[in-house]
Amino acid sequence: METEIVAVDKENVRDEDLLEAAHIIRKGGLVAFPTETVYGLGANALDEEAAKKIYEAKGRPSDNPLIAHIAQCSELEPLVSEIPEAGRRLMEAYWPGPLTLVFPKSDRVPYGTTGGLDTVAVRMPSDPVARALIRLAEVPVAAPSANTSGRPSPTEAGHVYEDMNGRVDMILDGGPVGIGLESTIVDVTGPVPMLLRPGAITLEMLRETVGDVEVDPAVSGPVTLDRKPKAPGMKYRHYAPAAELILVEADESGDNDSRESEGGKVRDRQQDPQEKGKGNQNPAGDRVVSAITRKALEDLEKGMEVGILCADETRDFYPRGAVIRSLGTRSREETIAHNLFKALREFDDLKVDRIYSESFSRERLGQAIMNRLTKAAGYHVLKV
Ligand code: TXA
Ligand code: MG
Repeated sequence: METEIVAVDKENVRDEDLLEAAHIIRKGGLVAFPTETVYGLGANALDEEAAKKIYEAKGRPSDNPLIAHIAQCSELEPLVSEIPEAGRRLMEAYWPGPLTLVFPKSDRVPYGTTGGLDTVAVRMPSDPVARALIRLAEVPVAAPSANTSGRPSPTEAGHVYEDMNGRVDMILDGGPVGIGLESTIVDVTGPVPMLLRPGAITLEMLRETVGDVEVDPAVSGPVTLDRKPKAPGMKYRHYAPAAELILVEADESGDNDSRESEGGKVRDRQQDPQEKGKGNQNPAGDRVVSAITRKALEDLEKGMEVGILCADETRDFYPRGAVIRSLGTRSREETIAHNLFKALREFDDLKVDRIYSESFSRERLGQAIMNRLTKAAGYHVLKV
């Protein structure tokens, strides 16, 4: 299949630029398009055959349901059998925007779209290209992230091209996305809304709008037999670069036994007079920098290519031989989120063997950042 690439100007979206894309979707084809979160791989959500093509193009397990994207609130009603009160409040507060809501589905939504579930996930994106495309297609658009299953989600059209060239009919290039992490997912089918995937609409924001919100235990921990995530997609190794990723986190429990059990000496910058005044004065952060440096030097000595994922505050502290990528300053969580998937893809391009990543705050947007990083690491977290 020949993949056509069409550039669209987000600031000045013209219907005529999107008519062919809308036509492809109506006819059962696949179009990748920008949203404010990540690029999506779109098909007609009411057409089971079209949904099947999405699974094929991504190499995605077919029990992993798709999100139906709509352009107006009135398009929700035909897709669902009920709109619970919490869902209504959340829609009013955050649509259009990076929030996906899980409702009981209506008969119109095929099981091919919902991975066999009786619920359907719906989102109204705010990106002007996405909205115009859905409006012109005149059908709800099922769209997972436009990456090969398991790879980091695409935050620019070039990433989509890498994964999907020859597998989709068209890629709409609207430039880099704004947020860079997938939407927040909230299940509103139960008595208390449940957060299934953290995103830019934070837990704090959700609670402010609807009060009590539960958090699916799979959001923060590895999947175990008694901890099956409610969002089926959250159970797969995901967002992952090709290299092994090790997340290094300060052990806040007070004792540092784990650091000693790692063997070797950890130089504590806080006690090193030369290091004083070099920015990051947080002793826990210093332990992380020391541990990553030591590990990276060991690996470099063995002839490995090593990547280090860090923040602006600490980027200059690491050994030169490593590939060092900063996600931005810790004082701007939005920037860290925006750069994360792109940085993981860059490590793939550079073919590093192992990546060490600093960890980040779990507050607000940090919950989503750490959720993706922990999953990318396959829950390999080194406490120091
Ligand atoms: O930001 C986003 O949400 C992007 C853009 C393109 O809109 N889309 C996206 O789709 O991230 P995807 O397919 O990569 O992730 C959708 C997640 C999966 O983990 C899936 O299991 C979950 O949503 N999901 C979909 N329908 C569900 C349902 N009925 N119940 C529970 N989880 C559901
Ligand atoms: Mg995805």
